[in-house]
Amino acid sequence: MIFRQVPVGPMQNFSYLIGDGNSREAAIVDAGWEVDKLIDICNEEKLKITKIILTHSHYDHVQKADELASKTNAAVYLHESDFNEIKKAIRNPNIKITKIKDNDEVKLGKIKIKIIHTPGHSPGAICLLAENRLLTGDTLFVDAIGRTDLPGGDSIKLFESLQKLKKLDDNIEIYPGHDYGDVPFSTIGGEKKTNPYFKCDTKEQFLNLLGMF
Ligand SMILES: [Fe+2]
Repeated sequence: MIFRQVPVGPMQNFSYLIGDGNSREAAIVDAGWEVDKLIDICNEEKLKITKIILTHSHYDHVQKADELASKTNAAVYLHESDFNEIKKAIRNPNIKITKIKDNDEVKLGKIKIKIIHTPGHSPGAICLLAENRLLTGDTLFVDAIGRTDLPGGDSIKLFESLQKLKKLDDNIEIYPGHDYGDVPFSTIGGEKKTNPYFKCDTKEQFLNLLGMF
């Protein structure tokens, strides 16, 4: 698996490239900024972008999906619960949009990308598991979590989503949607030790920490 973490735009966003070395197909995860930079990296790696997967509906992750899909003919994948929001950013009627849900697998040659629905930051927020890498969007950051005070946000749902992620192996690496930590990526086990929100085992502790109790 070819994998690149790509810093993009003025808001410390990361886009990601997942590529299959055999079929030379690539997926771009999140397309908020700097489409040409993403295309150039794929050209360097001799990969063809066939899929764009969006972790959630916020503009800093989706506003360039239309441009990227139009330039590459890639299909766009997004969770059904964020479909209406994301649709506003995709104006080209020729772009193929596929709605995905929890436990679906998006295939990239022989690579299987598992979709984990993690609502809380937005209703259709997803994490993507590809081999030992978990792309967490704005659900889980290094030592932090996504906001729940934006439209569609839900703190209790985010708590439940984080419990789902805690069940993954400690050595799974996590790759967030923003570069907000001291380091650009971490592991599930590492976050269990240092992320105060991820450490919470009860809703009460979690809501307390968010200042909601
Ligand atoms: Fe977001």
